[in-house]
Amino acid sequence: MQTKIVSLDRLDIDEEILNQAVSIIRSGGLVAFPTETVYGLGANGLDEEAIKKIYIAKDRPEDNPLILHVSSKEEVAALVDEIPEVAKLCMDKFWPGPLTIIFKRSSLVPDIITGGLDSVAIRMPDNEIALKLIEKAKTPIAAPSANTSGSPSPTKALHVNEDLNGKIDMIIDGGTTEVGLESTILDLSGDLPTILRPGGITMEQLSELIPNVIMDVTDISEFETPKSPGQKYRHYAPNADLIVFEGEVGKISKAINKKTIEFIEDGRKVGIMATEETKEEYPDGYVIVVGSRDKRETIASNLFTAIRFFDEAKVNIILAEGIEMDNIGTAIMNRLLKAASGKTIKV
Ligand code: TXA
Ligand code: MG
Repeated sequence: MQTKIVSLDRLDIDEEILNQAVSIIRSGGLVAFPTETVYGLGANGLDEEAIKKIYIAKDRPEDNPLILHVSSKEEVAALVDEIPEVAKLCMDKFWPGPLTIIFKRSSLVPDIITGGLDSVAIRMPDNEIALKLIEKAKTPIAAPSANTSGSPSPTKALHVNEDLNGKIDMIIDGGTTEVGLESTILDLSGDLPTILRPGGITMEQLSELIPNVIMDVTDISEFETPKSPGQKYRHYAPNADLIVFEGEVGKISKAINKKTIEFIEDGRKVGIMATEETKEEYPDGYVIVVGSRDKRETIASNLFTAIRFFDEAKVNIILAEGIEMDNIGTAIMNRLLKAASGKTIKV
């Protein structure tokens, strides 16, 4: 299949190009499009055959459910059993935005979307191209991140092209996504409001609205682990091994330098994921500055690109600085630790 690549300016959308994307979605094809978090791989969310193509293109395990993307809050009612009060509060405060809410599903939602669960994940993305595409397609759009399963989520059209060229109908290049990490997933389908994946909307922000919200990230990794043995893979995974260093910043850079020398003596090519504040401290290794500790949004925004850069540089091992685990730091460390398969060194 030939993948058509088009560009759209989110502030001045060319209707003719957008219409091409709309007709691909309407006729059961796949379009990768930008959101404010990462690029999504979209299909008509009510068309089982179209949705099956997503799983094939991504090589995604079939029991891993998809998020339905809507262009207005009004579209939610038909897709869910009921909208709890607390969900209304969250939608009013955080939509459009990087918050996915899990509801009890209605019968309109195809089984293939939910992986057999009785719940459905819905979000309204904060990106004009995404919103217009959904609105004009007149259907919710099912969209996982537009990467091959297991590799880092795409924050640029270029990343989508690396993973999915020849496997999907169209890529809309709408520039680099701002948040850079996937949405927060908040489960409001059970008794206790539960964050299943930390993301752009933080636990701290949600706690202000929902005092009894809890975080349980084990659930989601169950979904993300393929059930069939031997098929286990890492998430957000670079080709190289990755180790996260946790502790005081000063101690982290010393420990990374020590390990760098050891690995280099071992004949390995070492990548170091550093921050603005620490970049001068690494005399050896291939150093990438991922962002600033003073403005951790920049780290979130660049994290997946940095991981892809290390792969391009063909390093064999990546030593990454851990960061403080609060606010957006929680989501950054969640992705880093997954990319590292939990391999950490505490200093
Ligand atoms: O920011 C995002 O959320 C991006 C953009 C494209 O919107 N999408 C995204 O989708 O990250 P995906 O498929 O890569 O991750 C969705 C996660 C999966 O881990 C899936 O298991 C979980 O959401 N999920 C979907 N439906 C669920 C449900 N009903 N119950 C529990 N988890 C669910
Ligand atoms: Mg994903």
